[in-house]
Amino acid sequence: MRVGAIRPHGPVVIDIQNISKDYLMGEEVVHALRGVSLRIHRNEYLAIMGPSGSGKSTLMNMLGCLDTPTSGRYNFNGRNVAEMTDDELAEIRNREIGFVFQTFNLLPRSTSLRNVELPLIYAGVDPATREEMAANALREVGLGDRMQHKPNELSGGQRQRVAIARALVNNPSIILADEPTGNLDSKTGEEIIVLLEVLYQRGNTIILVTHEPDIAAHARRAVHLRDGLIESDDYVPLVDEEFAFEPR
Ligand SMILES: Nc1ncnc2c1ncn2[C@@H]1O[C@H](COP(=O)(O)OP(=O)(O)O)[C@@H](O)[C@H]1O
Ligand SMILES: [Mg+2]
Repeated sequence: MRVGAIRPHGPVVIDIQNISKDYLMGEEVVHALRGVSLRIHRNEYLAIMGPSGSGKSTLMNMLGCLDTPTSGRYNFNGRNVAEMTDDELAEIRNREIGFVFQTFNLLPRSTSLRNVELPLIYAGVDPATREEMAANALREVGLGDRMQHKPNELSGGQRQRVAIARALVNNPSIILADEPTGNLDSKTGEEIIVLLEVLYQRGNTIILVTHEPDIAAHARRAVHLRDGLIESDDYVPLVDEEFAFEPR
């Protein structure tokens, strides 16, 4: 239901203007994004939806500074990303953004604790501090008793929680989650969503890609992509907040 919902009023953290991304596949050019503009405020909870191939992951990679656009402008915290040095970009990826992927992307032979420590190694944190921070992050996601387990000794939902702990361990302000429930059954997926909601309530900015409406319903804003373009961008109330609004 589209009714007037609470709009964000925090500072703009992500501001992309007319972003396009082309991929060259042999002779053929794939236009993955064809002029996307999006402004995201601090502590928004946004779902990016759209059919397979519509450009969702491409957009997430741009937002996370993992890839650069073919054209257009990206300002992160008011600064033009194209003008940042590699070190500054690495700093943003390490400290500002936590990534969660559909396939978890954990190191298979490493324990939960070591997997969660990884971003801290890149950030140059000393071993004792890093172990303590990783252990705390695992406790936060309810895996205090699974620190020495390797990924194949964990359930899918637990693996994704390890991945979330890894995304959180640096206290990033933005969580980018690309179909985080895509490989999970619906009950386990719901647990991950509850975790994202807690992070949102704590002040994080959440950007979630999903094609499941049930999952997207937890976000406060829904952006629909189609063929590399934004088809709609709406602020939506939570399902159980609908009572608070006059239906149209
Ligand atoms: N690295 C790549 N090289 C070539 N084409 C790509 C690459 N990544 C994505 N594409 C193409 O760009 C389009 C958008 O892909 P993607 O962003 O992954 O869509 P979605 O995540 O919505 O399924 C698709 O047509 C896809 O085939
Ligand atoms: Mg994708």
